[in-house]
Amino acid sequence: MPCKSNEELYQLVTEARKYAKDGKVADYIPALGKENQEALSIAIHYPDGRCISAGDIEKKFTLQSISKVISLAYVLMELGKEEVFQYVGMEPTGDPFNSIIKLETLSPGKPLNPMINAGALVVTHLIKGDTVENRFQRLLDFVKEITGDISLTYNHEIAQSEFETSDLNRALCYFLKQHHFIDEDIEQLIDLYSKQCAIEMNCLVLANIGMMFAMDGYDPQRERQIIPKEVARICKTFMVTCGMYNASGEFAIKIGIPAKSGVSGGIMGAVPGKFGIGIFGPSLDEKGNSIAGIKLLEMLSKKLDLSMF
Ligand code: DON
Repeated sequence: MPCKSNEELYQLVTEARKYAKDGKVADYIPALGKENQEALSIAIHYPDGRCISAGDIEKKFTLQSISKVISLAYVLMELGKEEVFQYVGMEPTGDPFNSIIKLETLSPGKPLNPMINAGALVVTHLIKGDTVENRFQRLLDFVKEITGDISLTYNHEIAQSEFETSDLNRALCYFLKQHHFIDEDIEQLIDLYSKQCAIEMNCLVLANIGMMFAMDGYDPQRERQIIPKEVARICKTFMVTCGMYNASGEFAIKIGIPAKSGVSGGIMGAVPGKFGIGIFGPSLDEKGNSIAGIKLLEMLSKKLDLSMF
């Protein structure tokens, strides 16, 4: 079913776009810095297959931290929650996504949750396979399975750019290796994680993933449980408590839906039982979340009374 452009969404996008000038496109990964600061698009995917949208919805972007929800779902399905939560905790940090501080101040150095970089690196480390290629292919196949889009791939330039500039993530990994939460070659892990973050899609496909989480892992179109209900619920809970990093509390109060952001400017939203949302707006606030994307969600949540609280 084609995604119909929607006049009301278009008006919200026009209003929210005004905030893009107050933010900044991420450039700590140099290849991300090329995006148009003013870009803003949204798609809403309903369980019955209908889709409405506004903005340049064909524009592809990389998942970045949004991929952390998918890798978490994948390892929970492969290994089970008992094993996964031996390596990573369940508590929000209130710190920036790449912060190292809690690893040292809390004993025994176990990352507090899978949405911060330290926790996500441990989760990616748990993806099984003989080689980076083989492990990445498994994860990508899983994303293809969730979306039903077999053409999905990753952005090589952005993956390479992240690999070359990931010294802080390397530092996190070495700390975690010293404390036995990681036991593999760190260059390999950074390679795998950079590719994972560079998986690329447009906001239509992202909204489709959001819809699947909104429906507790069930895809009504294909009449299949793609992710077990319990795994989908764990992921959504992390999206509420840690999905927007140290802005998660304010986001829960103002918007009130499970959501996950990435430094590319993507936001995936899952409105429980109702629909999935995919947003792309690369201008970021100081916490690394899409500044216009959050405004857009705020207006949408108010208009449609979306808060689950
Ligand atoms: O680890 C990193 O630096 C990135 N590839 C992902 C970070 C990210 O998207 C944080 N989100 N707001």
